[in-house]
Amino acid sequence: MSKRYYITTPIYYINDVPHIGHAYTTVAADIMARYKRICGYDVFFLTGTDEHGQKVEKAAELQGISPRELADRTVHQFIDLWKVLNISNTGFVRTTEERHKKVVRYIFQKVFEKGDIYLGAYEDWYCVPCETYFTDLQLHDGIHCPDCHRPTEKLKEESYFFKLSQYGDKLLKLLEEQKDFVMPEVRYNEVASFVKGGLRDLSVSRTSFTWGIPVPMKANHIVYVWFDALINYLTGIGFLEDDELFNTFWPCDAHLIGKDILRFHAVYWPSFLMSLGIQPPKHIFAHGWWTIEGHKMSKSLGNVIDPNEVVKQYGVDEFRFFLFREVPFGLDGDFSRKAITHRINGDLANDFGNLVSRSVAMIGKFLKGKVEKPETRGGIDEHVEERVRQLIDEYQKEMEAFSYYKALQHVFEITSILNKYIDSEAPWKLAKEGDPRVKTVLYNLWNGLRVTAMLLYPFMPVKSQSIWNAIGIGKMIEKVSFDEEKVFYCIDDMAAIGKIAPIFPRIED
Ligand code: MSP
Repeated sequence: MSKRYYITTPIYYINDVPHIGHAYTTVAADIMARYKRICGYDVFFLTGTDEHGQKVEKAAELQGISPRELADRTVHQFIDLWKVLNISNTGFVRTTEERHKKVVRYIFQKVFEKGDIYLGAYEDWYCVPCETYFTDLQLHDGIHCPDCHRPTEKLKEESYFFKLSQYGDKLLKLLEEQKDFVMPEVRYNEVASFVKGGLRDLSVSRTSFTWGIPVPMKANHIVYVWFDALINYLTGIGFLEDDELFNTFWPCDAHLIGKDILRFHAVYWPSFLMSLGIQPPKHIFAHGWWTIEGHKMSKSLGNVIDPNEVVKQYGVDEFRFFLFREVPFGLDGDFSRKAITHRINGDLANDFGNLVSRSVAMIGKFLKGKVEKPETRGGIDEHVEERVRQLIDEYQKEMEAFSYYKALQHVFEITSILNKYIDSEAPWKLAKEGDPRVKTVLYNLWNGLRVTAMLLYPFMPVKSQSIWNAIGIGKMIEKVSFDEEKVFYCIDDMAAIGKIAPIFPRIED
């Protein structure tokens, strides 16, 4: 059986247009999906939109349209942005789709029949934007939401409850047995201490609004938006519809999320699944948040970054690359025009772009555009090849752990080694002296570039292909096998390479 990999993004609320935060998680998932595909995995990559709930109902009301109209309008902005960003998702769930509603009703009923959902009454402080209740003790300054700091309101309603309190020990056991269930470690610790603090039953229905999925046994109750939303991860791979697809891909390998929605994914979601007798996901990875030029991103500050604009100005691969080269995945980061310009000019135009153009020019001039298998090899040639091989292994280790930042550091160590190799071996001198080692050095450079482009492929799918084309390789990079390509070789069907336009033009400040 071939290797399978299932990765998801959160499904995005459609009360708001897509911004850099949404792009971040989605590009992160795309990077892993592309990486796994060239490593030989059959990948299912799911994203989608979260279209129910009070927040959406209120936003639609403000615009004087129905929630359905709002959803139909905004969903296209997400779909279009994913095209612009070259997102290679294989599935997309809208929670308003019939196939999803059917799954949610089925699961609610099942958990109810099991005795894990019961009818009770609820009174507490409710935060509308977060769709979450808080106790007195949890409130900030006695009235504000501890998460978003906006005012909460006292609400009392009849409600169905999920017996979350019964799942504390099981969750602790899961966390104990699977130390990488939640990544990075700081988030694991956060979840563990939350669970150790004791769990209260969770309200899973609302009667204060109507935009959502009615509870199967009492239609004036609407299924809590998080209960509804999390289930998308099952709907998307054919739960109740296509057993073969479902059994192939579940349990999910990785849910990628932002740190703000950790508790829903790492505490509630596995508990719902355990109640259903379905295995929990293998990993949950929570990333940090972006600020903009040092400030929290917010509509009122007017500093919300539209990824379409950034792409227009800097290029799509440049944007994708920046997001993961600038900040270790998992930590918070700051987006600024200065930082993205600095990254593009430094890493891409100077270090990597120059390496490509110098190498291509020399292969054109000294070898008539084609590299050949070397006849003689010196110590330094072997050393360079060996170092590159080690760095590829390091890269793979980091990619497996979602350490994109470190993986990219290894890639740029390769470019730095190759740039130094050109300077120290001076191929133009070897050519002038008629030394056959010129072939060896250019062969190593060509191979170094070839593998570097492949390592960058998950981050920069378009540019890496341009580099392959520029160095005479006609293959589609997205179709290759990582293991076959990571060794140094010489190809017979290499196209002769000539002059190329700069692949990474400099950005003027
Ligand atoms: N609909 C829920 C998720 C349900 S998943 C079953 C939701 N949607 S959201 O649209 O509000 O947020 C989606 C993601 O965007 C979250 O992972 C969140 O962390 C991320 N981001 C929102 N703003 C962000 C930044 N400023 N920076 C980085 N990511 C941020 O929550």
